[in-house]
Parts: sequence; C-alpha cells; structure tokens
Amino acid sequence: MTLTPALTRHLSNPDLFGDLTSMRSLAKPLGKETFQVFNPSTGELLAELPDMGVAETKEAIDKAYVAQAEWAAMTARARSDVLWRWHQLIVDHTDDLGAILTAEMGKPLAEAKSEVSHAAAYLQWYAEEANRIYGETISAPSTDRRMLVIKQPIGVVGTITPWNFPASMVARKISPALAAGCAIVLKPAEQTPLVAGAMFALAEKAGFPDGVLNLIYSAEGDAVGHELCTNAKVRKISFTGSTEVGRLLMRQCADQIKKVSLELGGNAPFIVFDDADIDAAVDGAIQAKFRNGGQTCVSANRLYVQAGVHDEFAERFAARVATLSVGDGFAPDVAIGPLIDTRARAKIEAHIADALEKGGTIRCGGKRITSDGTFFQPTVLTDISSAMRVAQEETFGPLAPIIRFEDADQVVREANDTIYGLAAYFYASNLKRVWRVAEALEYGMVGINTGRMSSEAAPFGGMKQSGIGREGSRHGLEDYLEMKYLCMGGI
Ligand code: SIN
Repeated sequence: MTLTPALTRHLSNPDLFGDLTSMRSLAKPLGKETFQVFNPSTGELLAELPDMGVAETKEAIDKAYVAQAEWAAMTARARSDVLWRWHQLIVDHTDDLGAILTAEMGKPLAEAKSEVSHAAAYLQWYAEEANRIYGETISAPSTDRRMLVIKQPIGVVGTITPWNFPASMVARKISPALAAGCAIVLKPAEQTPLVAGAMFALAEKAGFPDGVLNLIYSAEGDAVGHELCTNAKVRKISFTGSTEVGRLLMRQCADQIKKVSLELGGNAPFIVFDDADIDAAVDGAIQAKFRNGGQTCVSANRLYVQAGVHDEFAERFAARVATLSVGDGFAPDVAIGPLIDTRARAKIEAHIADALEKGGTIRCGGKRITSDGTFFQPTVLTDISSAMRVAQEETFGPLAPIIRFEDADQVVREANDTIYGLAAYFYASNLKRVWRVAEALEYGMVGINTGRMSSEAAPFGGMKQSGIGREGSRHGLEDYLEMKYLCMGGI
C-alpha cells in the first residue's frame, strides 16, 4: 500500500520515498499480514505496512551476513564516501523527513526537523570517524616477538529503535556500525517505522551495497527481537528502550555471550543550588523537562531546588510552563505535541493522583486537554517528597515535580538513590561545588548549567541499570569494533 494522503499532503515530493514497501533494503514479506501506522495527533491512518516476523528476520540476517564481508573489505574511505552521500541526502530532504516524523510521532515540526538534522550530524560524524580506526603496536617483552592490536568490525548488528526519536536513534546506532564495517538489520518501533523507511530509501540512493542495510517492519517486536538475539549470525544487539525490555534482550543474548549496547530508562535529577543563575536554570529546566513533551530518556524527572531559591524558581518556572502551547505538531507555535498513546497518559495521571494524595500541590496544568486524545497540559507540582511515585519512577511525559531541599550533600545522596544512572543536571556557580557535585553524581552524563547535552561528538549512555555502552563520539565507534591481538614470533 502506498502512503495515504494524510501523510503525503505534508510532503513536497511524495515520490521521493517510493511507496516504502518495495525498497531493496526492506526484507521481503513472506505473509499477507499488515499493520497500520496512525498519526497520534489526529488518529488518521498514514500507512499500512507488511507485518514481518521471524522468517523475514532470518532472511534479512542471512543477507546481512553475506553483505557484511564485502562491506568490511572495502576501504574505510569508500565506506566513508557512502555515509557522506547519505548524510547529504538527509540534509537535502530535512523538511520532508521532518514532516513524516511529525505525522507518525506527533512532535512539533520544528523539533522534528531539528531531530533530522541531529540524525544527519551522526552520519557526518561517523563518515569522518570511519577513516580514524587505529590499532596499536606494543613494545614486546622479548626481542624475537612483535606485538600488535588491530580493530575489526564486530559483524552483523541487530538494532531495535524506539518511537520517541525515530530518526536520530536510527542514525545514532547504525552510523558507527556502518563506519566500522558492520551490516545492519533494523527493526524500528511499530508506532514510527515511516521515517526509518524514508531514511533507508535515501540510503539506497546513497549507494550502500545490497544487503548492508536491512529493514524489518513489524508489530511483533518480541518475536523479531528474540530472533535477533538468538541467531548466531548476529554478533551484536543495539537497543534503546525501557530497562525492562533491555533486561529481557540481555537474557536472550546470554547463551551466545552476544555483545550488547543498551540505552535504557532514566530518572534524571535536575538540581538547582542556591548559587545558581535562576534565569538560566528556568530555561534549562524547560528544555530538560519539556523537550519532546518529556518523552526522552534524559528528561529531567525530579527537580530538586534548594530552599533559598525554591519559591522564586517554582513561581517563575510554573509561569513559563503555563505558556507552553500543546497541539498538533503541524500547527504553528506548538511547543508540545501529543503523548504517544493513552497508556502514557494513564501513567502521568497516576503519578499526579499519587502525589496529590500524599500532600503534593498542582502549580499549573494537571489535566487532559481532550477527553479522548492524548494531549495533556504541561504540569508542575510542588510539595513533593522522595517517597512519591513521581520521584521514584520515570514519568516519560510533561510533568515536572519540584522537591525542596536544604542540604547539598543530602541532595546528591538522594539524586543517586535510584537504580538508574543515565543523565543528571545541576545549576550552580561555585567552582568547588561544580566539581564536587559533577564527580559525585552516579550518572553517565551530567549537564552543568545546561539543560541539553545530546551531541554526536559526545558519548551518550548510562551507568547502573540505564545501560551498557556509549553512542556518539569516538567511543561509539569502539562499541562496533573487536580488538584482535597479533603476536608474531620467530623474528
Ligand atoms: C533518548 O531519549 O534516548 C535520546 C534523547 C536525546 O538524544 O537527547
């Protein structure tokens, strides 16, 4: 089925992406089952796609396995050139890719285009990094030996990407793998497979050899994930999603000791100390909490504000939050789109109800905007304690709970008191405090006087149960390379 007018009316060139069900890189559907993709803002049908399962995944893996050897045998420069061409095509089609993303995921169009640019930045970064894979020589402990380390691609990589960043997560995972010489089998989230399909259509134009990129559309995430984890031809799994699913995939990978990169849940603290610049802290909190409607793994989940600035911060922050407009991502000036589904709304409502029952106060928002839709008012709560669900669990929505604190050492202990360790933020100006707090926070990423830190140039990833491995930077490339020690004797 081709894309419906509910999608194509937003595109300047609907033909560019073909019908998204007949690309070379798409696994060949073996059955007749389909699934539908809807716009979460309007409920309109955007596309009907073949629903693939284990059989198609096996075929895609076989194809990737053969193609990987050829791709790895090319020079790094040749791989880099293809990545550069893909980067340029994505840049050239940012507007259409952004429109597809807004249609299937709901985020405001400006944010969607910025995500596409971020995706392109990963391709650019790893087109460059492809040429910078270095080994090493080691001073041997005896004169008749020479010792070296070479780096080689890990092999076929199975990737599973989430719905909240359906373009940048694809690029963030697969560009380092491709630069390293790996082949890919990708299963995008069933809610948001279209922008991934469109990116793969552009990848074909960029000239990837047949079989290097393989796409599985599927509403059967569990079965496809299981096959990727247990098929011996797949050497690595890269997944972004919940800690619960990450644990399951890791267990499935255990029998083959398969390598994993996992970017999982978070419960990010955002701490405002008495010596912070309050204007900057309010701006940073808006970014860290409400970007993508609060549906990011690095969203500020708990805002701790020191007693001396608590009231001023809460008042100014709530006043700003109340001005954020919520609506269809295609409407002008919308800051927050819909929640992805009604389950997401139910969690936010449960967190608010629990907080109110235990003494919390609503400073703004707190209600659904439409009774049937998934639009929800951006909400600020105060009088929050660490015992409330909202401070313990990842909300993944536009809800900001503020916790008052007195003691700087105590707040760091509370901030670390979680199974998660993905992102943390804090605002302070005293240099000694900045260093001490940055070092004490048990998180893979710490934003100091900033509410946004995601970048292709930096290692994105978490500690504790927030994941394994890093994406972006030169470290992201290492995650797709095997280290091989060569020992030459008899010299
Ligand atoms: C994520 O939520 O996984 C990604 C967020 C980001 O790139 O900032």
